[in-house]
Amino acid sequence: MSGVLVAEAVTKRFAKGDEAIVALRELTVRIEEGSFVSVLGRSGCGKSTLLNMLAGLTAPTTGEIRYRDRRLDGPGPRIGYLTQHDTLMPWRDVLRNVELPLQILGVDARERRADATDLVRRVGLAGFERHYPRELSGGMRRRASLARLLAGRPETLLMDEPFGALDAQLRTELQEELARLWQGSGQTVVFVTHDIEEALLLGDRVVVLGGLGRILLDLEVGLARPRRADDLRTEPEFVALHRKLSAALKGE
Ligand SMILES: Nc1ncnc2c1ncn2[C@@H]1O[C@H](COP(=O)(O)OP(=O)(O)OP(=O)(O)O)[C@@H](O)[C@H]1O
Ligand SMILES: [Mg+2]
Repeated sequence: MSGVLVAEAVTKRFAKGDEAIVALRELTVRIEEGSFVSVLGRSGCGKSTLLNMLAGLTAPTTGEIRYRDRRLDGPGPRIGYLTQHDTLMPWRDVLRNVELPLQILGVDARERRADATDLVRRVGLAGFERHYPRELSGGMRRRASLARLLAGRPETLLMDEPFGALDAQLRTELQEELARLWQGSGQTVVFVTHDIEEALLLGDRVVVLGGLGRILLDLEVGLARPRRADDLRTEPEFVALHRKLSAALKGE
């Protein structure tokens, strides 16, 4: 089977004094180009560890990560990563944080400013362009990070619980905005979440991870797009998928 991004029998061990902590064991997963894959799992099952390796930030202990059939040996501009923890630059305001990937790509100042301003608006931060990260709430920082991720238009996007800290209303708005921006873009997305509904609302596929990154379930999501949270909840197919995912998580 092909796949733009492939984890092949990856194991990740961390050393803690004399002990070794195994975070993932022999995980194999293939991400098809242009697909939106939700990764669902309980806290501590290894989701962030997996994304760090898919981003090229850390190497697996054994096994390998391949990107476009080449062994991935470091991060690069083709793979954008929204980490679980905040990485905004404290000395840059919101707009200049969002502009950063465009600056790196050498986009000229005016175009970069226009693009960044549009993205800042899309994530609901209009009016906060000149605020520094320390002047924002946790949810606002998440949204600024999302805008920065999208600004560079990487061919592959890795997102680690981007909407976890947001209120329900804002979360729904941003899920729909992300789906809109992604659809037709050709971008490949790996999206980590704890939330079953979010996984189904966004994904073409949901991969459920259990302890040590064991794959408990790998489901295709055939729900038509665009999907709206309010309509989905009463749709029989959604309800059936939700039940399966919930049972897989509980069975751990
Ligand atoms: N740098 C590290 N050193 C030692 N152990 C680590 C390190 N990073 C992760 N681990 C361990 O690996 C396991 C998986 O951690 P990981 O952060 O990948 O979980 P997660 O699925 O992302 O959890 P959450 O949903 O809470 O974010 C945990 O047992 C954690 O303690
Ligand atoms: Mg995590």
